[in-house]
Amino acid sequence: MKQTLLLLPGDGIGPEVTAAAQRICQLVAPDVAIEEDLVGGASIDKHGVPLTGAALDRAKSVDAILLGAVGGPKWADVARDKRPEAGLLGLRKGLDVFANLRPAYCFGALVDASSLKRDRVEGLDIMIVRELTSGVYFGEPRGIETDANGVRRGFDMSVYTAPEVERVTRVALEIARGRAGRVCSVDKANVMESGQFWRQEVTTVHKTHGGGVELSHMLADACAMELVRAPKQFDVILADNLFGDLLSDAAAMLTGSIGMLPSASLGTEGTPGLFEPVHGSAPDIAGQGIANPCAAILSLEMALRWSLARPDSADRIMAAVGRALEAGARTRDLGGDLSTTAMTDAIIDCL
Ligand code: NAD
Ligand code: IPM
Ligand code: MN
Repeated sequence: MKQTLLLLPGDGIGPEVTAAAQRICQLVAPDVAIEEDLVGGASIDKHGVPLTGAALDRAKSVDAILLGAVGGPKWADVARDKRPEAGLLGLRKGLDVFANLRPAYCFGALVDASSLKRDRVEGLDIMIVRELTSGVYFGEPRGIETDANGVRRGFDMSVYTAPEVERVTRVALEIARGRAGRVCSVDKANVMESGQFWRQEVTTVHKTHGGGVELSHMLADACAMELVRAPKQFDVILADNLFGDLLSDAAAMLTGSIGMLPSASLGTEGTPGLFEPVHGSAPDIAGQGIANPCAAILSLEMALRWSLARPDSADRIMAAVGRALEAGARTRDLGGDLSTTAMTDAIIDCL
């Protein structure tokens, strides 16, 4: 049956980098049908909301979704639930893509582009598994209010249920099984009830489903430190929604640039995967044609591997990005001067 990839370019550099990925898709998987829709600020401008019910329904009906990025100063003053970011969160929640895989992989050619010394990052290959549809991002109650004493306050609720921790832990264990077999689960069990609960549940799931995978626990602040001290100690890092967000940006810099990091958000069997760069809409460089397209192109690579069952096409992309980087192709964030289009051309030449 014909497969469909839905492009949701979004805002800022989103359309620039998804256009690059679209070119690659047409070359490595020409029979995949490509559709397009709006999300984020682009959807606010057209429909008044960051994600329409029709766009969500469409996303549910395709095989995979490739999203660029959302957000920007234009929509910064809108109420939180009407911001571009709310469209992305609504999409993640609506698709129930609870397991967000963020691989921090350092290409050989980029070892010297990393902010860490060569010996710390050479051969670096970490998979962060971030819980994506619960925790403090979605917990209730939340709000900004004035209390009985007239003092204003803002609050959010960090909450996880056992099934939510269980399903993402299983994904982390399964992924570790196909890698070096080690999961490091991250929390603040020393100060938060939800952290203590997270650690208890992960431990319980590991006892039943661990099968050969080694589990360790680390406090999230220590993990941030260890990531920049000795990142190669990690194989799979399992984290909640908030810690996974923070740690994956930190891990991104180890690979040379945030413009290199892709992600895959997966749900239960049969759910279309949502694939997106880890970076945002980069308002500071949007419209200049200089964004690094690699994170978007590697997100397509993940879509081909995880949702479209085309490992050969995925391998081709991975190898081509590696070869283009070996040949010296670099956008500005990597210390070069190639435009988005020229970088994409260089990768296409290596396909
Ligand atoms: P950002 O990732 O957009 O930018 C951080 C820095 O990295 C900027 O200097 C930017 O120029 C640079 N950068 C990011 N991607 C790059 C690329 N591909 N090539 C070269 N340089 C790149 O983060 P921010 O500035 O904190 O956020 C900007 C907006 O993006 C906000 O509205 C935020 O909410 C949104 N955001 C969206 C997503 C998403 O859609 N998945 C992710 C993160 C942030
Ligand atoms: C990310 C982003 C999003 C997040 C925002 C834009 C909602 O930072 O995908 O990492 O916090 O999850
Ligand atoms: Mn983030």
